[in-house]
Amino acid sequence: MNSPLLHTLTIALGARSYPISIGSDLLASPATFAGLPAASTALIVSNTTVAPLYAAALYSALQPHYCDVHTLSLPDGEAYKTWETLNQIFDCLLSHGCDRKTVLFALGGGVVGDMTGFAAASYMRGVPFVQIPTTLLAQVDSSVGGKTGINHPLGKNMIGAFYQPERVVCDLSLLATLPARELAAGLAEVIKYGPIADMAFLDWIEAHTSALLAGDVQALAHAVRRSCEIKAEVVGQDEREGGLRAILNFGHTFGHAIEAGMGYGQWLHGEAVACGMVMAAHLSQALGLVDATFVARLTRIIAAFGLPVRGPMLDANDNAGRYLELMRVDKKAQDGAIRFVVVDGSGQALLRGASDAQVRTVIDLCCVP
Ligand code: NAD
Ligand code: GLY
Repeated sequence: MNSPLLHTLTIALGARSYPISIGSDLLASPATFAGLPAASTALIVSNTTVAPLYAAALYSALQPHYCDVHTLSLPDGEAYKTWETLNQIFDCLLSHGCDRKTVLFALGGGVVGDMTGFAAASYMRGVPFVQIPTTLLAQVDSSVGGKTGINHPLGKNMIGAFYQPERVVCDLSLLATLPARELAAGLAEVIKYGPIADMAFLDWIEAHTSALLAGDVQALAHAVRRSCEIKAEVVGQDEREGGLRAILNFGHTFGHAIEAGMGYGQWLHGEAVACGMVMAAHLSQALGLVDATFVARLTRIIAAFGLPVRGPMLDANDNAGRYLELMRVDKKAQDGAIRFVVVDGSGQALLRGASDAQVRTVIDLCCVP
């Protein structure tokens, strides 16, 4: 690769606009972090897996910019995306006497990014933060767009805030240490952008399956760039999910039910979304929006990435009933009625209701008995 910085995109949100830098070897360079709001203190929030790999490099890159740089390493895993872990960030900020100019740096995957963003949104009613996503999933989705939060035992991402970062730094070099299962889970969110926004991108993904699974940097760079472009376009039009932004949740209504029903951390978020997209495709067919050929193709593409296409049983007695119960907690639900993101096969998504009978049929079809 000739230049460490390959692309800079902008999330256009007026006064809250910010850049997404995509490149390699960005983390260790002090220039990457020039021009952020002036402050004397920075806090790197990471976890017990990522901090040993990358916190020292980030610490050195931040030193020219801040008098004090602290590091906090949280426990690793979706099961720790909780109030208790969030409170560790506040404890750390307060015990170091961090003021309202302190800049938080989220160094990790979506779990660290979502929690650090929420801490930044609420510490002293709001301090600046920077997203440094270290998983593919976080680079193509969670670090961009300002959704922050934690899980509740009764529902995924139920407590949180819209709060935009100062910038997003997508360093592709960091993906080299990502386990294969995590890379594939991130590719689920990449696949998502095809059916909802760009069928030519789905064609490209299908044609580059092997390169993407092998972690080819050029292929990943394109996947991150195109995903972020689509997400930037959607978020720029509908920052707080008044309507359009819901399309980014294709596969997530079923997927969140799988995550909550299995227990957070059993299936990876991307795995649950992958299977959820298959279910949502079947529902799209049941609603007359796509044909069986489309569903079979999307299922084949998802399976080619080693991602699950069959749903888990969440209840031996009334499996579909349990899915429905969990999906009613979905944030898109209105007056108890679940609304699903479905697709029309031309690269467009829409929000639709469905009868319980239709949803039960899809779940029965898609779940492993
Ligand atoms: P994650 O944050 O749990 O990271 C996955 C695993 O990879 C963890 O064990 C982590 O420690 C490890 N890891 C991270 N970077 C690594 C690296 N470079 N090398 C080696 N190991 C590394 O999971 P995720 O898939 O990144 O994110 C999932 C979370 O993101 C979920 O909580 C989901 O709800 C959230 N999410 C949020 C949004 C949003 O818009 N805010 C969008 C999508 C997903
Ligand atoms: N990941 C869904 C969204 O950002 O809206």
